[in-house]
Amino acid sequence: MPSYSFQLNGDTVTVDVPAAASLLWVLRDTLGVTGPKYGCGVGVCRACTSHIDGDAFQPCTTPVADCAGRTVTTIEGLADGDVLHPVQQAWIDEDVAQCGYCQPGQIMAAVALLAANPNPTDADIDAIENVCRCGTYVRIRRAIHRAASS
Ligand code: FES
Ligand code: FES
Repeated sequence: MPSYSFQLNGDTVTVDVPAAASLLWVLRDTLGVTGPKYGCGVGVCRACTSHIDGDAFQPCTTPVADCAGRTVTTIEGLADGDVLHPVQQAWIDEDVAQCGYCQPGQIMAAVALLAANPNPTDADIDAIENVCRCGTYVRIRRAIHRAASS
């Protein structure tokens, strides 16, 4: 079986898995990193949203071979030790989560948006395509504005 190494949340990891294995299942099943959630497996719901080289992406549609030598960050890698990322703190302050299932992906999408656009409009925020079946979109919008002004 081929071997692939990449940076994951600050550490170098090496996995022996088929080249076509989806990164989402490598993260969850091989590496035990379960923040990225499985919703659709086809790049639509965005529950698995994480970052690769600082950009938001969907691990469910990314073969592990495409990650070799790159830097992957999941929700587990966002906080600085015990200090939450400002977006995570804003999520708590605005009490965003309901069931919580979509929230790691929502937060990772929000962090990527703010990195590209530090002062997004409501329309910019509403362009995030992550699905929330609980309908927390209004609170997501408030939390992103709060993080932008923090
Ligand atoms: S699981 Fe739905 S986009 Fe990845
Ligand atoms: S909080 Fe339940 S799906 Fe988003």
